[in-house]
Amino acid sequence: MELSGTLILGGLIVVLVWLVGLKSRRRWSLPPGPTALPIVGNLLVLDKKAPFKTLLEWSKIYGPVMTVYMGLNRVVVLVGYDTVKEALVDQADDFTGRGPIAFMVRASRGYGLGISNGERWSQLRRFTLTTLRDFGMGRKGMEEWIQEVSSQLIDRIQSTKAKPFDPTFFLSCSVSNVICCMVFGERFSYDDDQFLQLLQITADIIKFSSSPWGQLYNVFPGLMEWLPGRHHKVFADIEKTRSFITKKIQAHRETLDPSSPRDYIDCFFNRINQEKDNPTTEFHEDNLVSTVLDLFLAGTETTSSTIRYALSVMVKYPKIQGKTGGPRLGLSTRSTSWTRMATSRKTLRSFHSLPVNKHIFCFTR
Ligand code: HEM
Repeated sequence: MELSGTLILGGLIVVLVWLVGLKSRRRWSLPPGPTALPIVGNLLVLDKKAPFKTLLEWSKIYGPVMTVYMGLNRVVVLVGYDTVKEALVDQADDFTGRGPIAFMVRASRGYGLGISNGERWSQLRRFTLTTLRDFGMGRKGMEEWIQEVSSQLIDRIQSTKAKPFDPTFFLSCSVSNVICCMVFGERFSYDDDQFLQLLQITADIIKFSSSPWGQLYNVFPGLMEWLPGRHHKVFADIEKTRSFITKKIQAHRETLDPSSPRDYIDCFFNRINQEKDNPTTEFHEDNLVSTVLDLFLAGTETTSSTIRYALSVMVKYPKIQGKTGGPRLGLSTRSTSWTRMATSRKTLRSFHSLPVNKHIFCFTR
């Protein structure tokens, strides 16, 4: 009797919350959208593997700007090139902020470039872009690293003796090692256990964050903390990666020569020292550890899956492979550089490595 009374009361509260939600939708004149259920919102009817497919279908009914509920989170969905451009380009100032993604916030402990907004984002982004450029992004020094790493990659591919193989792991090793050069100032051997563990963990984190279980964490983080599941293993792995990064940072601190910075971490330390009397500085170790983590998470999977996709295009269109100068990457060979540029742009256009923006869902057909 007592239990059924509690259930009825609970049900009434849920319905009440739902009705208040409906009323506030009208009051704030939110864009139209499908009717949402209490607590779960529209989650149950979203295509779990490709949510954009459901969203595209809904946009035919509700238009290019819709309100959708991911659990209790209200989300504005923009569909189509013109709508996305109007928001993110024409009204860029109003759309620069991004909402918190629970998984990323937990992984980065609330610090770093990847999740921040406002002054923190602006300072870390400016610093990171300038520093990565100074260390060769798009410059001659990096060209040499990439050539060396890609030559090792080709040797490893050739060692498979034309038997079928999955290039995923080889590609992640190569891409990650270029990031290691910029960030840690060192490259790792492909037999180095710590490096292999870092790669495995990075791949697991990315896989988890885009899985239905990872999405569920983003929608109900508080609840998921109490439930058993893979997310606990992923968070434990993230802690291992953070401690790997922290050890590297510690070693940098002990060997720092401020007049001759070796890599991203040294430059960050120089900036910490320059701003040590500034009480509102964003240059401190919490932001350093999380930004280094961001660089690995954001850089490895995106770049290696883009190259993987490009490889599959090359397999399908051998003529294009010929025009790009084949697998040996001489980045400064001018005769093939236009074709390479066009091919890589086409690759980036035709496949979505990060189709869903952080703060609004944006789709262009
Ligand atoms: C083909 C390769 C790449 C693709 C397609 C790609 C794509 C993207 C996209 C779409 C975003 C914006 C995400 C959002 O706002 O929601 C982003 C952000 C970011 N990417 Fe990449 N990326 C690539 C390579 C890299 C590399 C190599 C690095 C690091 C070395 C990197 C580091 C970052 C960082 C730190 C952010 C966050 C920037 C910020 O918040 O201002 N990415 N990337």
